[in-house]
Formats: sequence, structure tokens, C-alpha cells
Amino acid sequence: MVSARVRPWPHSDHKAFLVINGAHGPEMQLPDEPILNTWIQTISSWGYRSVRTSALAPSASSPLERLGFSVSQSLVLLQKSHDQSVPQLAMNHSTHLVRSLPLLSRPTRATIDAILGVDASAFGTEWSLDTATFEEALKATRHWRIFVSRAENRIDGFVLAGVTQSHGFIQRLAVRPNAQREGVASALLTSALNWTQSRRCTNTVVNTDHNNEAALALYHKFGFATLDYGLSVLEKTLP
Ligand SMILES: CC(C)(COP(=O)(O)OP(=O)(O)OC[C@H]1O[C@@H](n2cnc3c(N)ncnc32)[C@H](O)[C@@H]1OP(=O)(O)O)[C@@H](O)C(=O)NCCC(=O)NCCS
Repeated sequence: MVSARVRPWPHSDHKAFLVINGAHGPEMQLPDEPILNTWIQTISSWGYRSVRTSALAPSASSPLERLGFSVSQSLVLLQKSHDQSVPQLAMNHSTHLVRSLPLLSRPTRATIDAILGVDASAFGTEWSLDTATFEEALKATRHWRIFVSRAENRIDGFVLAGVTQSHGFIQRLAVRPNAQREGVASALLTSALNWTQSRRCTNTVVNTDHNNEAALALYHKFGFATLDYGLSVLEKTLP
């Protein structure tokens, strides 16, 4: 059975965020067209003017494109196998573990705000997280850790990594623009990959926009290889 949920897109009350569980997996099959049409009508009846989806594998995006959705973002999927070691790059930046176990207390409100501030400065308002999507990202995997890089007592970058079974995920990585090209992301990614490897993951996966040259160069430098299928975020204006 396919389950989906709807909430406002971060920082935009008129755009719905349709999260389809498991739809990033290559095997996902969406319900038939009449049911998908019911989803669209229901979201429209709640007053939203448009709807944007979570990242979808091709098997899930095709049926929605036939219903008038168009691609809003094309994502490349990259995977690093852990049969090679993590490159231990020379680091100018120390990384600090913020939280390790979901059962313990969560990051403080001030820390979450600082992380969301870095996220907004790196991704811009349109694609940045709000508190609710940040919390959802924490719940998306069985285990998670956030590493932050601090300079002069200010958070300049963070990475959210997750682990489910033997798979590691880089869920989010962002560095404040005025701290970029100084090795911050390299230091964060090294910590995240050391952690996923220490949890006996066989591989770690990440996705990024197909035009994001900085991120693609970073991941390739760390030994990530592009998978043969990507993901799409779709969008549709509602009647
Ligand atoms: C992608 C991002 C995290 C890189 O952070 P950073 O701290 O500047 O990265 P680093 O300084 O550690 O750079 C490591 C390598 O990444 C690549 N890289 C980083 N920025 C780059 C750029 N603007 N253009 C091309 N390559 C770049 C280079 O290979 C670089 O190695 P080099 O400096 O020896 O050439 C940062 O640009 C960012 O936050 N961007 C916006 C958010 C984002 O795209 N997040 C990742 C999406 S999943």
C-alpha cells in the first residue's frame, strides 16, 4: 500500500508539499490514475494553489507527469561504496557532534535555529528547510547524526547523516556562503562518512540537483559514483 501525506511547503502556505513514502525507491508503483486524481482534488479542496512532491524515482514520477505535473528539480543520485576508505583530507575545520541518539534530548532550539539559518543562506528561501521538514529529515532514517562546523562560536556548516540497515545517507549538507571553499564541507563529509562506515554501512547515498556543480565535484572527490537513475521533484498548479 502506498501512503502519502501533505503539509505546507516550507515558507509557503499556498504550496502543498506532497510526501509520498518510499517513492524514491526504483520499485515504487503509485496507485491508479483515478486515485491520484482524488489526491489532487483533495489537496486543491484544502485551498492550496499548487503542489510540489518529494523526490520521486522514475516509476513514480511518470504517472504524475501524465496527470500534468512537470519537473521542478532533477536530482542526481550518487553512491559511495564503503569497500574503499574515506579520504582523510587535511582539515582546517574541526567538526563537532551535536546529537547522536534519537532517544536522548534533541538539539536545543538555538542550535536548530542556527542550523536552519545556515540552510537558508546556502539553499535560498525556495529550497530551504523549516523546522517541520528538518524534524521529518531526522525521522527519515533509523539513526541520525548531525555534525556542525563552528568558527568563532558560530555554526558555519552542518551535515545531517542517516543510517537505515546497511545504507548510509547524506540527508543534508550546507555551508554558509561566506565560509565556502575553505574545506568546511570536506571536513563535515569526512565525519559523516566515518560515522556511516563505523555503523557497518555497505554504502552511503546522496542526491543533489543535476546543475549543482559544487556539490557534484565535492561528492566525486570523495569517491561517490553516479547511479544510473535519478530522482525528480514534480510540481503542478492546482485548479
Ligand atoms: C556544496 C557545498 C556544501 C560545498 O561546501 P564547501 O565548504 O565550499 O566545500 P569545500 O571547500 O570542502 O570544497 C571541497 C571540494 O568541493 C568542490 N567544490 C566546492 N565548491 C565548489 C565550487 N563552487 N565549484 C566547483 N567545485 C567546488 C571542489 O572539488 C572542492 O575541492 P577543491 O577546493 O580542492 O577544489 C557548498 O557550496 C554549499 O553549501 N552549497 C549550497 C548547498 C548545497 O548545494 N548543498 C549540497 C547539496 S546536497
